[in-house]
Amino acid sequence: MPYRGRVTPHHPESVVIVLFGATGDLASRMVMPAMFELRARGLMPDHWRLIGSAGDDLGEDGFAALLRGSLERSGDLPPDFDDVAAHLRYVGGFFSADEPGELPAVLGEVREELRAAGGSDPLVVFFLAVPPAAFPAITEGLGRHGLADGARVVFEKPYGTSSQSFEELDALVKRTLEEDQVFRIDHFLGKEGVQAIYTLRFANKLFGAQWDRHSVAQVQIDVPETLNVDTRASFYEATGAALDMLVTHLFQVVSQVAMDTPYDLADPESVLFERDAVLHRFRPLDVENDVVLGQFEGYRDLDGVAADSDQDTFVAARLWVDSDRWRGVPFVLRTGKMMARKAQLVTLVLRPDEGPLSAVAARPNTIEVNFSGAGGISLGVTVKAPGPDAHLSYGHAVLDLDDVPGGEPLSPYASLIDDVLRGDRSLFTTELGLRAAFRAFEPLLGQGRPAPIPYEPGGWGPEEARRLVEPFGWMLEQLERVPGED
Ligand code: BG6
Repeated sequence: MPYRGRVTPHHPESVVIVLFGATGDLASRMVMPAMFELRARGLMPDHWRLIGSAGDDLGEDGFAALLRGSLERSGDLPPDFDDVAAHLRYVGGFFSADEPGELPAVLGEVREELRAAGGSDPLVVFFLAVPPAAFPAITEGLGRHGLADGARVVFEKPYGTSSQSFEELDALVKRTLEEDQVFRIDHFLGKEGVQAIYTLRFANKLFGAQWDRHSVAQVQIDVPETLNVDTRASFYEATGAALDMLVTHLFQVVSQVAMDTPYDLADPESVLFERDAVLHRFRPLDVENDVVLGQFEGYRDLDGVAADSDQDTFVAARLWVDSDRWRGVPFVLRTGKMMARKAQLVTLVLRPDEGPLSAVAARPNTIEVNFSGAGGISLGVTVKAPGPDAHLSYGHAVLDLDDVPGGEPLSPYASLIDDVLRGDRSLFTTELGLRAAFRAFEPLLGQGRPAPIPYEPGGWGPEEARRLVEPFGWMLEQLERVPGED
């Protein structure tokens, strides 16, 4: 029986998805392939329509061609693509309160068609795959033109870039939508490995019993990337690693690791309650002692980047979670572009054993969760090296989630869009949670923000970041095999 989804088990009979930003990079790389991944897995309702909306005047054929290209690139092109065209509509021109264009009329027609085909009123999902600057106009437009009632609205990240801009956006969204209509995406929460943290903790005494400050000395969440930012230098120049990755993805992963036990995992509200509660326990960052920013050498030479830019392309931060469970345990987070390797790993470093072998045990026990791809879990354990002498050694027990019987991983976007269809918000961010995340992050936006330290491309970022993980060092760099990777 699924441990999630008991409260909201059903997919709707029919759905219309209105995709704002349909010609953009995010729509074509992530959102449209995810929809077709769901369709291929039988997770799209039988009756569905996709309405693309964007500034360009593409026309319906143009949109079908764009969709085909996107699905070819992602490997999700269905064999019956020619039949898909009948499910598509396209509306050109920007949608806003003052200029709704043809969207209300087209949506009305499509709803009527679906009602005739499916019998019931279709679920309407508005997916805002647009830059945050476009959120207000579209949201106001939905309200003004009576499109918001009963709809679900998906907002991309970043949902605000500071406490102030978050509050402004939140106030505007609240004027139009109820909180349970709002689905703020952070795709890291949709990753198989991040979701696996629930079951690891809540279905296994072996892990659940160790999951606190009594057993854990340090938690590392390490997301180095080899990626350059040359194709989106202007975005990066305006955003930086800390805003792009830390207050968003990495803070959410911390909340997933650190939350207390929800009273009912099948009830999204109870999961959200615990995630929000732990976000409220994040201590505001001590930027002087706990944050290291970096900038890779060569960043300032990119087109769209100022010659004296002090934007960060790397951030490492030590975060303190002042809950009873975690008081005194540092959560050390690291991410950056142009680093030595790409990985996404949570490591729990367990406190050294105090038994009779403590003096000879070389390394602490560790629990690793890889949250890239299908994900994986491993355990670093002290063992006796087989042989005549009683020497201790250290080994790794690895579980690739891909190999779990019955497993068929979903990509993060597909998983989250599936949750939107079911109305399950447990893997989305909330108003309360984001408010708390920005409160903890705010010091990094102020006067005390440290200057980024230059680092060489292809390495591990500024050496100064090593001080944050003392006395253990960055565990990823010491790991022979990341679980779930070949
Ligand atoms: C995005 C960030 O949200 O996540 C990127 O804007 C980052 O900078 C990306 O590279 C990482 O996503 P993924 O899918 O590789 O885990």
